[in-house]
Amino acid sequence: MNRTNSTEPSVSELTARYTYGTWRFQKGWEPLHVVDAEGCYFVDAAGKKYLDFSSQLMCVTLGHKNQAVIKAIEEQARKLPYIGPGYATDVRAELSKLLLDVLPKGLEKFFFSTSGTEANEAAFKIARMVTGKTKIIARYRSYHGSTMGSIAATGDPRRWAMEPAGKIPGVIFAPEVNCYDCPLNHHYPECEIACVEYIGHMIENESDVAAVIVEPVVGTNGVLVPPKEYMPRLRQICDEHSVLLIADEVMSGWGRTGKWFAVDHWGVIPDILTTAKGITTAYVPLGLCATTGKIAQYFDDHYFSHGHTYEAHPLTLAPAIAAINELKRMNLIERSRQMGEVMRAKLTDLKSKHLSIGDVRGIGLFWAAELVKNQETKEPFNTMSDKISGKPLLVDKIAAEMMKNGVFIQAWISHFVIAPPLIITEEEIGIGLKALDDALAIADRELDGRG
Ligand SMILES: Cc1ncc(COP(=O)(O)O)c(C=O)c1O
Repeated sequence: MNRTNSTEPSVSELTARYTYGTWRFQKGWEPLHVVDAEGCYFVDAAGKKYLDFSSQLMCVTLGHKNQAVIKAIEEQARKLPYIGPGYATDVRAELSKLLLDVLPKGLEKFFFSTSGTEANEAAFKIARMVTGKTKIIARYRSYHGSTMGSIAATGDPRRWAMEPAGKIPGVIFAPEVNCYDCPLNHHYPECEIACVEYIGHMIENESDVAAVIVEPVVGTNGVLVPPKEYMPRLRQICDEHSVLLIADEVMSGWGRTGKWFAVDHWGVIPDILTTAKGITTAYVPLGLCATTGKIAQYFDDHYFSHGHTYEAHPLTLAPAIAAINELKRMNLIERSRQMGEVMRAKLTDLKSKHLSIGDVRGIGLFWAAELVKNQETKEPFNTMSDKISGKPLLVDKIAAEMMKNGVFIQAWISHFVIAPPLIITEEEIGIGLKALDDALAIADRELDGRG
């Protein structure tokens, strides 16, 4: 039977109808219809090209349509598209060998999931099973994922809708490390990193703490890079109290910060490292929860009460092998560090031009530009409550203006996260920052005393 007839909706009608499937503030939301992507660019249905200045969700590390990763997916689909997680596979062995090479030394047992949030759920369960303790300390300026355990440990307002019943019990929050706008009103270095010392104080007073989870460089919540003493001191505090340290490198891993993993900047080895996103340059969903051999040994004779049908799914592992090899072949970890210095210089210039920029900060190709109404008071244009209530945010207006000019950037409450694919050229960095420069006129007009 010929199923095409004139009453059948067209692709664009279907796109409009299923717009609501994008699950945003739904009324009036019209997502861009994307049809293609290559390198640092993606293309909409009208053929317009956009520079991807945030690698989508800070995940397309190698850029779009990397041929080696695509080939690995194709070949694995032909060879062994699925087998249950209880079997050994070539692809799992090969990836594990590569992971031993690139992960901080000592992380040697791998649980493969299909997202970052699941990697964190595994980390929490492992921490609780191994220590026999319950509580997890997380920090306010953080995001660890959307499932019940990870959202419970998320400090940002995406947690609010789940308070208090829809989240796991036992998660408590420590102050974040934020030297631009310190939650303790301190100044580095006179503060002697009081924020991390306070975590020790919390552990002593809480008892029953199984683990501390941190993003070593906080991602969506503002690319907060800790001072050099912070992570080593946190490692020490955890050791002193027999508490496990979980490093959530879902966003900061895979060269984003100019090292394979952000913890490598400080020579810190966490007990558990979780990651996802760039592990496959995001073409296929894969999460990883890596533990030390000591933690893994616990399960030699204890029941591992966790797992997924899609755990260690061969189709997710093959592209990770290709992505790691591509990072090595193109020397992208070093390139991220070098281009990060280009970004630093250009963003510093941009800040000097715009009173609406309160701070630019970052490491490698991982940067934030934070907007303020007033550089002295650091008052933001929008708050967390504005975000949740659906109030139009200034950063979103600026991001929309940049889209008109062919540059995509991630905006979050009062800052932008600039995290392009690691293959970006200096010229493309210039194109992205020119669009930001132009669009910042919107913020400059709204400054205190001018609006
Ligand atoms: C630091 C961090 N952890 C966890 C997650 C959750 O990862 P996923 O969206 O793959 O579940 C994210 C997602 O943005 C993240 O940035």
